[in-house]
Amino acid sequence: MSDVKLFSGESLPLEMHKARIVQKINLKPVDRRLEAIKEAGFNTFLLKTDDVFLDMLTDSGVNAMSDKQQAAMLQADDSYAGSATFTKLENKVQEIFGSTYFLPAHQGRACENIISKAFVQENTYVPMNYHFTTTKTHIEINGGKVEELYLDEAMEIKSSHPFKGNLDIDKLRTFIEEKGVENISFVRLEAGTNLIGGQPHSLENLQEVRKVCDEYGLMLVYDASLLADNLHFIKTREEKCQDMSIREISKTVADLTDIFYFSARKLGCARGGGICTNNAELYAKMRELVPLYEGFLTYGGMSVREMEAMVVGLDETMDEDMINQGPKFIEYMVSELEKRGVPVVTPAGGLGCHVNAMEFVDHIPQTEYPSGALAAAYYIISGVRGMERGTLSENRDEDGNETLSNMELLRLAMPRRVYSLSHVEYAVDRITWLYENRELIGGLRFVDEPKVMRFFIGKLEATSDWPEKLVKKFKEDLETLNKEEELVLN
Ligand code: F0G
Repeated sequence: MSDVKLFSGESLPLEMHKARIVQKINLKPVDRRLEAIKEAGFNTFLLKTDDVFLDMLTDSGVNAMSDKQQAAMLQADDSYAGSATFTKLENKVQEIFGSTYFLPAHQGRACENIISKAFVQENTYVPMNYHFTTTKTHIEINGGKVEELYLDEAMEIKSSHPFKGNLDIDKLRTFIEEKGVENISFVRLEAGTNLIGGQPHSLENLQEVRKVCDEYGLMLVYDASLLADNLHFIKTREEKCQDMSIREISKTVADLTDIFYFSARKLGCARGGGICTNNAELYAKMRELVPLYEGFLTYGGMSVREMEAMVVGLDETMDEDMINQGPKFIEYMVSELEKRGVPVVTPAGGLGCHVNAMEFVDHIPQTEYPSGALAAAYYIISGVRGMERGTLSENRDEDGNETLSNMELLRLAMPRRVYSLSHVEYAVDRITWLYENRELIGGLRFVDEPKVMRFFIGKLEATSDWPEKLVKKFKEDLETLNKEEELVLN
């Protein structure tokens, strides 16, 4: 996708693809949406898609496949062992990332399970730029501790820093010196830091992290799940990379790591995942876990059809026109919201548009889950399903106290090649209305709280009758709008 300059002077994100298969979606009445969110325990994960208009929960496993991906799925070689499809995938991964060894896994968190089981030592640390929910849980259940060493700018909602996802090199050195190399299992860098607004790291930062790891003899594990967006930002925001091709940047990134893993639900617009390494010893340590937890070494829990789609998807990810689409649409949405005064994370990152719930509903204490409440309220008034990324997504500490999140975000993910600009305009309009009526939103409390990863399946309720009051005001405003329109028409 490229920006096109309009004669009005504005620029427009332009899709470099056309839709040839479509899926009908429903916009249910607001009263049904209120009922639906109550049935779902105010948890957008528990909504049924039949009740959802725009599904902006995630970009995981829901990006649109290309005609070529669909076609490739028809010729998959369905064999338990030695599948030709797997060989194709292994070769493609080798071609793009230059890795000697490739282990398949059914998705990103399965890679994390294998890496954590193989390398996290009891009572050691894993320093990183920022954690992801499943990563942190896997490290912790294997006895490790996560240490986040992000830039100070990473926590600034409004910023012009192009690489807020960088790992702070000074903090990394100090941390290693303080804790001792022997107490660190490995260093982890995440592309496109999911939980702080899809913010990228620079290639220069990765090179510096590598240098520190070499100095101290530490292993560098790289989470490439959100690499596609990060590649786009390296290419467009890092001056010395502007003349590098996406393939060159990808290869350079992979070369700098000891272990490189990804969720193919994101990278490659398919499903599944995999772990790459050039190190025979590391490979051997992880290899034995794959048949135990995933499946035989030539499918790793994935369907061969998905592996075929991944081969083509990874190739397509090397196309600038393709990886532009997410970031450009997100940038458009972020700038439209900024114009209307709605607090959003800037600069626009990858994955989705991130609304700052800490400011949007600053009257709701973190213990009443402001971003969860905002996600529920937004669904009620728009039918758009976003995802809470805040305190609700944390686990309680050992004493049962809340772990208050650094950020309270409502994430509106942008599945690639799925929604149109008019969908984005609708989403912007409704969240703007909600912002103007934000004082009507109240808090949430748990009625059913699982011990870990509670945000997936936990159920909550409103702390008052705020959802009913919100719906009442929404209906009144719509009615006034319709009356005004009638007057104009008459
Ligand atoms: N790492 C990152 C950075 C991720 O964003 C995800 C998934 C994973 C690992 C785990 O991969 O889902 O294939 O097991 N993120 C999804 C999301 C769930 O909605 O952001 P997975």
